[in-house]
Amino acid sequence: MEKIVALNHKMNMDYDELQDYIDDLKKINLNPIVFPTAIHAPYFVEDHFRTGLQNIYFQDNGAFTGETSPKQAKKLGIEYVLVGHSERRELFSESNEEINKKIKLALENDLKVILCVGEKNNEDYQTVIKRQIKEGLQNITKPVIIAYEPVWAIGSGVIPSNEHIKTVITYIQSLLNYDVKVLYGGSVNSITIQKINEVNVVSGYLIGGSSTSIQELKKIKEVVS
Ligand code: PGA
Repeated sequence: MEKIVALNHKMNMDYDELQDYIDDLKKINLNPIVFPTAIHAPYFVEDHFRTGLQNIYFQDNGAFTGETSPKQAKKLGIEYVLVGHSERRELFSESNEEINKKIKLALENDLKVILCVGEKNNEDYQTVIKRQIKEGLQNITKPVIIAYEPVWAIGSGVIPSNEHIKTVITYIQSLLNYDVKVLYGGSVNSITIQKINEVNVVSGYLIGGSSTSIQELKKIKEVVS
């Protein structure tokens, strides 16, 4: 099965850099799901990339300065939304309860959801992930994609062992009653992906730091296809 490659630009790249990036990305035929900074999203939609937002709000409209609703995203041609990224949980104090509301409204608006979960350095993965999934997906029946991102692996250059990735993904699958796709994220680059790609339960990758480098993406493409 073709691996999903999701590109999380975070708050990187400016308008000028974006033009070359889009031209080059088209040429390498990676078929990614791109999660650009929100104001860049229309450029990817116009160029027919599968496009997502890095965050979403849990109301359709109203006096919520700075937020974007699933309804607005859908109208623009956005197909995906990333919910519960560890940076949102940490830096913007997002709770599982808020995450649950965001996922509900996103699914009601026919957006596809990637829910990010993962343990910190000194945490027991089972305790943390069980809670993130049970509370995050409470009363939700539609399938979502999960991204397993150990917090300590994000942006650190350090990756877990293949055994750890396989164990955690198998654990995540045991918590859900459908054939869930689980992505791995955290320091995925053209080098680390060569080893991770041996883990057969990985459905794809959520890539941060390397996602804005066309050179990196070219090499990643060779590994996943
Ligand atoms: P990274 O980020 O690839 O830079 O580790 C991954 C992520 O935060 O989704």
